Amino acid sequence: MEKFEIIAKTLFGFEEILALELEMLGATDIELLTRAVRYKGDTALLYRSNLMLRTAIKVLKPIATFTVHNDKQLYEKVRTINWEDYLMPIDTLAVDGITHSNYFNHSKFVALKTKDAIVDQFRDKYGKRPSVNVEDPDVRISVHIADTTCTISLDSSGKSLGKRGYKTSQVYAPLSEVLAAGIIMLSGWDRDTDFIDPMCGSGTIPIEAALIARNIPPGCFREFTFENWNDFDENLWENILEEEKSKIVDFDGNIVGYDVDPRAIEISRANAERADLDDMLIFQKNNFMTGEPEIKQGHIVMNPPYGERLEEDNDMLEFYGEMGTKLKHYYEGSDAWILSANLRALKFVGLRPSRKIKLFNGPLECRLQKFELYRGSKKFKKMEKDL
Ligand SMILES: C[S@@+](CC[C@H](N)C(=O)[O-])C[C@H]1O[C@@H](n2cnc3c(N)ncnc32)[C@H](O)[C@@H]1O
Repeated sequence: MEKFEIIAKTLFGFEEILALELEMLGATDIELLTRAVRYKGDTALLYRSNLMLRTAIKVLKPIATFTVHNDKQLYEKVRTINWEDYLMPIDTLAVDGITHSNYFNHSKFVALKTKDAIVDQFRDKYGKRPSVNVEDPDVRISVHIADTTCTISLDSSGKSLGKRGYKTSQVYAPLSEVLAAGIIMLSGWDRDTDFIDPMCGSGTIPIEAALIARNIPPGCFREFTFENWNDFDENLWENILEEEKSKIVDFDGNIVGYDVDPRAIEISRANAERADLDDMLIFQKNNFMTGEPEIKQGHIVMNPPYGERLEEDNDMLEFYGEMGTKLKHYYEGSDAWILSANLRALKFVGLRPSRKIKLFNGPLECRLQKFELYRGSKKFKKMEKDL
């Protein structure tokens, strides 16, 4: 099959793990960009990328690159593309714009100009034009301008790949599935130890851990925009789906999510059920500070509250301090990875992090920090003496 350029977009800090995922899928000419990875592959790899990549948020297929200095040029050059190759007047369309350029300040305007050029081409030829559907279009186009270089791509994914489709209910401030999968992968969980999320909210981290543990394709719960394309190869897609599903394995260890809020436990269980993982995941109500749950040795990945309101800040410092004390006393022998946007409060955990990784949760700058809770370490012995 013919190879072409593909761009997988991701979150800040995930470029390297995404490149590793792509290498495993057989991508070639892999090149790390900012919040994206460029590579080469065929149609099968394009489909497989959507189905299998855990840390990509979009998979784009560039169809044209040109130089632009103003909106008139943009309009004219977009009109030179033969849009009939990609959609028909009866299709619905959405255009997403991104600009990092002194020549173009507004992403929405860039998207609008591109959309105008596309629909005008159809109107002039057929007297009919595709209509716009921002939420759920048949074909989604991406226009990206960096300085004067404009790249027009077909968005093969549609909705963000962070929306896997199993999470229809959520508690306040859930992580995107891509962020949850990425932090688990960065944490290097070896699947030989139990996995614990002591503050699981809607269950995103334990559910992603289970998908990783069982090698379940993260995209198998949803549809993709490439399924609407003129050249969609249904046989190829069915074969890829079948092949990847045949690689699902069993997992014998425990994956546990705790939360103090009973509603969170209910929601996590419902989400796990939709992902068909309710048999293997354990969700239980537990107050991290005071509870003593049975499963405490393992690989801990947690996303505690950040306390976004200023008046909560002092409470948060105390909360993180208590969290550190509990980790030291009760979870010794485990590794704990904490993701938080409250960088001040993280200092109050009172343990020296052995790794610090800068990430973003939406617009919030975060740190993913690793704390090694060695049993018998010097620090630990001193702490025991002090008790
Ligand atoms: C930022 S949310 C976690 C979101 C989660 N990662 C998700 O994707 O939905 C923090 C969670 O910590 C829980 N929490 C707060 N204090 C807790 C405590 N003392 N013990 C256990 N859970 C707690 C909250 O109920 C909330 O669900």
